[in-house]
Amino acid sequence: MTALHDSASVTGIDVGAVTDLTRGEGRTYTVDGTQIAVYLLSDGTVRATDAMCPHRGGPLADGQFDDGVVVCPLHQYAFAFATGACTSAGIDPVRTYDAHVVDGRIRLTLG
Ligand code: FES
Repeated sequence: MTALHDSASVTGIDVGAVTDLTRGEGRTYTVDGTQIAVYLLSDGTVRATDAMCPHRGGPLADGQFDDGVVVCPLHQYAFAFATGACTSAGIDPVRTYDAHVVDGRIRLTLG
C-alpha cells in the first residue's frame, strides 16, 4: 500500500493555511515566542523573515515585496529574502527562515 502523503517527510512548524493570506500580502505570526513575518508571493510561494526591521523596528509584514526583497515601510530599506542582507550598507541583516507550503499549509523551519 502506498501512502499519498508521508507525514514523516513533512518538516517545519505549521503556522496556518496559505488561504489566510492574499498574494502580495504579508502577515506576522508568533512561533515559539518569535515574531515572524510571512509573505505570500504572486507565484504562490512563501518567504519568511523576522517581523521586526533591524533598523528601527518597523513592521516588515506591512512592507512592499517582490520575489527578491522586502522593503520596510518606515524608511524603505530593502532586505533580500535569500540572505537577509540589507541592500544598503551599514544596516544589519534581518533573519530569514525556510518557508514553504505543504498541502495548503504554511510551514516554517526555525533554527
Ligand atoms: S525601521 Fe525599517 S527601515 Fe527604518
